[in-house]
Amino acid sequence: DHRPDPVVSIDYEERARGLLPPHISAYIGAAAGSGGGSAEGTADWSAVRFRPRALQDLRTIDTRTTVLGTPVETPVLVAPMAQQLGAHPEGEAVMARAAAAAGSLLGVSTNVAVPFSTIAAAGAPWWFQVYVMRDHGLTELLVRRAVEHGARALLLTVDMVALLPATVNPRQWPEGPAKSRLTNLTAAELAAAGPGAVDMDAGISLATIGWLREMSGLPVLVKGVLRGDDAAACVDAGAAGVIVSTHGGRRLGPSVTAARALPEVVAAVGDAGEVYADSGLRSAEHVAAALALGARAVFVGRPALWALAADGETGVQTVLDGLTGELRQVMTQLGAPSLDRLTRDLVA
Ligand code: FNR
Repeated sequence: DHRPDPVVSIDYEERARGLLPPHISAYIGAAAGSGGGSAEGTADWSAVRFRPRALQDLRTIDTRTTVLGTPVETPVLVAPMAQQLGAHPEGEAVMARAAAAAGSLLGVSTNVAVPFSTIAAAGAPWWFQVYVMRDHGLTELLVRRAVEHGARALLLTVDMVALLPATVNPRQWPEGPAKSRLTNLTAAELAAAGPGAVDMDAGISLATIGWLREMSGLPVLVKGVLRGDDAAACVDAGAAGVIVSTHGGRRLGPSVTAARALPEVVAAVGDAGEVYADSGLRSAEHVAAALALGARAVFVGRPALWALAADGETGVQTVLDGLTGELRQVMTQLGAPSLDRLTRDLVA
C-alpha cells in the first residue's frame, strides 16, 4: 500500500487560543512590526521546489541523526520558548516528556520557571538557551546550574537584546506562575544582584562565545544568525555552529527570512560547524527543504507551544511524531532514504 497515511493535523493554534487567556495567546502569537515576517517565513519554506531522485533503494527510511554528537530519532527539535507555565500548568516538564517520547531534543529558555532537575528527569537531551544578563556573575551561576543538571550545549541567542512591545511583554502579565521565570536562581541570589541585573546585556560580542564555552565546557551554538559573514565570525570565535533564525518573525518584520538566509550561512560555515534553522517551519516538506539546503536539524517553536497549551504531552508528541512520520513520506518521494541524502542538488 503506497498511499500516504491520513494526514494528522498538527495545528493546535485555534484550540489553544480558545483555552488560553488572551494575553498569553497574544504573547505566543506575537510577531515584530507589522507582523508579516512570520507568515513570509513560512511562505519562503513553501516556495522551495524539489528535484526528486529516481530509482533509489527506499525499502528503509531512516530519520535518525546526531546533533552536536547527541543521537536523536528525528531532526525535528523543540525550540527554546520562555515561560511555558503560561501555556500549561507543568510547562517545560511536559514539553520535555513529549520530546523524550518522540526521540527529540528540547531547547530550554533562560526564562524558565520549572526546575532544571524536573526538566532533566524527563530524559530528553536538552540544550540551555542563554540570554546574557547585565550581571554576568548571575548569568554564569545560572549556566553552571544548567550544566550541573545535564544541559549538553548552550544556545547563545543574539537576536533579542531588547524586549517585545509592552502589549505582549510577559512582564506586564498579572502576578502568578505564568509570570515566573529565573526560578532556577534563588530569591537570595536574585536579591543580592540588585535591580536591573537580570535585564538583557545589549553589549554582548564575539568574545561572549569563548566566555560561555570556557565557563561551561559545552559547545556553543549562536542562535539568530542571518548572514554568512556573521556565521563565519561566530565559528572562528569558537562556536560549534549557528542557528539561522528570525526568532519566528519576532525580531524585525522586514527581515530576510530563514529560508533565504540559510544557503548563504551554510556556504560560509562549510565544514567548520553545524548549521540549524528555525522560524516558520510548519510541515515535513519545510523540514526537508531546510535539510536539503544544508541544515543539520530544525527547531519548531509555536506549533509545539500551541500543542502544549491545547493538549499537553499528547499534543506536543502528535506534532513531533506527525512531522517525523510525514518526513518519512517526503523522503520517500524525494528518493532520499536517509537524512544525509537530503542534499543541495534536490533543490531546484
Ligand atoms: C520564542 N523564542 C525564543 N527564543 C529564545 O532564544 N529564547 C526565548 O526565551 C524564546 N522565547 C520565545 C517565546 C515564544 C512564545 C515564541 C513563539 C518564541 C524563539 C524560538 O526559539 C524560535 O526561534 C521561534 O519560535 C521559531 O519560529 P516558529 O517555529 O515559532 O515559527
